[in-house]
Amino acid sequence: MTLADVQRRVDSLPTLPEITTFVLSMLEDPASSAPDVTQVLVRDASLSSQILKLVNSAFYGLPQKVSDLTRAIALLGFGRIKTLVLSVSMLRLFRSLSGRRREEFSRFWMHSAVVAGLMRRMALRMEVKEPESAFVLGLVHDAGKLVFLGHFQEQHAAIVRLAEERRASFAAVEGSVFATTHAEVGAWMARGWGLPKELEEAIANHHGDRPWEAGKLAAALHFADHAAKMRGVACAGSCEEFRYDEAAWGAVGLPQEDYFEMMAAADSERALGEMVLRVSGAMDEGAL
Ligand SMILES: [Fe+2]
Ligand SMILES: [Fe+2]
Repeated sequence: MTLADVQRRVDSLPTLPEITTFVLSMLEDPASSAPDVTQVLVRDASLSSQILKLVNSAFYGLPQKVSDLTRAIALLGFGRIKTLVLSVSMLRLFRSLSGRRREEFSRFWMHSAVVAGLMRRMALRMEVKEPESAFVLGLVHDAGKLVFLGHFQEQHAAIVRLAEERRASFAAVEGSVFATTHAEVGAWMARGWGLPKELEEAIANHHGDRPWEAGKLAAALHFADHAAKMRGVACAGSCEEFRYDEAAWGAVGLPQEDYFEMMAAADSERALGEMVLRVSGAMDEGAL
């Protein structure tokens, strides 16, 4: 099964939701403001109500219930709202790709959400120009696995079984089942979604040789991926042993104290990821 076979099977890659494209385009436009976001959000009733539920969730611990989006943006800040909007809309898209395999999907989502959150935190400290791009990269870095899960369920299960038997990583064994990799498929998806070239390349190389040497974003991705796994937040089939990776942390270039902070931050990113999953899952089932 090559990349071309995968492309044939997934003849229409779902398009990015309009709101996601809009939020991404705002990243490049310093003139965009909170009311601009509100205007687009109100056109999508389900998305706005999920955002409000999240803003009012225990996670943020706001003293009063907020019922209006502009107020929510003022309280949480533009950056945080952008990442919430991206999370909720990408979660919907991911779910549609997953073939409704609940357990594997939850693990995929939690891993992606924690990597994304850590990426954003690191990007802010590394003074990367667009911390939200780093967040998006974290969210989509393993999206190729979803295509395997949704469209090639037997092969996906075979990879997970092999990884468990060999105590190896998904990436180390996927080559015995496919003639392509989740990194290659993910890069194709990123290209289809029109994500920046830098993101596409970081996805393509995230299991390559010394991926942290490919630039700051690639180094941050490698570290965040690793940190999430060390905290037990990994996709199905990640059965390798995780140890402190000195080379990767060195390439990130942040002080040593930040390492411990990032490790601790993984736990709060996990709590947020769970909240997003719960709120949007309940919305999907019409329970809210
Ligand atoms: Fe990966
Ligand atoms: Fe990963």
